[in-house]
Amino acid sequence: MEKLKLSNNVEIPALGLGTYLLEPSDAQKSVETALKDGYSLIDTANAYCNETAVGRGIRNSGVGREDVFLSTKLWPTVYEDENAVDDTLRRLGVDYLDLLFIHQPAGNFIEGYRQLERAYKAGKIRSIGISNFHGEKLSRLLENAEIKPHVIQLEAHPYCTEDEIMEKLRPYGTRLMSWYPLGHGDSRLLNEEVFARLAEKYGKTPAQIILRWHTQMGFIVIPGSRNPEHIRDNRDIFDFVLTADEMDEIGKLNDNVRYYNATDESEERFATVELDFDRD
Ligand SMILES: NC(=O)c1ccc[n+]([C@@H]2O[C@H](COP(=O)([O-])OP(=O)(O)OC[C@H]3O[C@@H](n4cnc5c(N)ncnc54)[C@H](OP(=O)(O)O)[C@@H]3O)[C@@H](O)[C@H]2O)c1
Repeated sequence: MEKLKLSNNVEIPALGLGTYLLEPSDAQKSVETALKDGYSLIDTANAYCNETAVGRGIRNSGVGREDVFLSTKLWPTVYEDENAVDDTLRRLGVDYLDLLFIHQPAGNFIEGYRQLERAYKAGKIRSIGISNFHGEKLSRLLENAEIKPHVIQLEAHPYCTEDEIMEKLRPYGTRLMSWYPLGHGDSRLLNEEVFARLAEKYGKTPAQIILRWHTQMGFIVIPGSRNPEHIRDNRDIFDFVLTADEMDEIGKLNDNVRYYNATDESEERFATVELDFDRD
């Protein structure tokens, strides 16, 4: 598994398993399968309401805590709750996190970010992330951040590489972690002719070509899956290298079109959405 370095020198695996929309039982199984198959990065969130199951999956896998890079996200309703980080640790059954994000640019996100900074200084989290920040809210966050974010999680795939946001973050060395890396399974993306052709050339699947493209772009990639075969396939992307011309050709698909488009209103609504994080 290839690793990348964050701006604070913490090493992060280039590929991991995402657990969005996985019901607790599926999340537990997928995490167990992935870790047994050689994954070492797992991404979850308070809002996925599966952290307890993810923690069980990690323990059942038999893989040591020190060999798992665990990332999760605080939901806006707990940005001002001083127990939010400890509650997250309790649900996952761990005493530190490798990466903790604030999930949405909603509510009192400055206070949410301060919680991350305090947890970082207290040794409860090894790196700090933000997710879905853009525009004026991103500027405000950066102006108020004593420790600049090590990672930003954004929707990113060959149709959208988030160049404007990443340009703004370039001075801080913030890494991009791609969500919806396979376009959330969109068949139009998976069936693009260029991926079929490269899949044939390298003896891989179109999904593997897309994931390899992410890692060669320097992105951290976290495809989600409840299918053990896909989980295995998605890991097997480090035994070939796309050429510069092939990377350029894939780059031509980019027209900065996202599948999910938030508005200020829809974002702010997140601050009022109460979820049962302890569901399982
Ligand atoms: N920060 C945020 O706001 C945010 C938002 C969304 C997602 N995320 C994170 O990003 C992760 C990834 O996003 P996602 O899971 O929604 O989208 P995704 O990884 O782009 O796509 C997942 C879909 O692709 C399919 N798939 C996976 N591997 C495949 C393969 N090898 N061949 C064909 N199809 C394949 C999966 O189906 P199968 O189950 O059948 O494999 C699933 O339907 C999430 O799990 C979550 O951790 C973060």
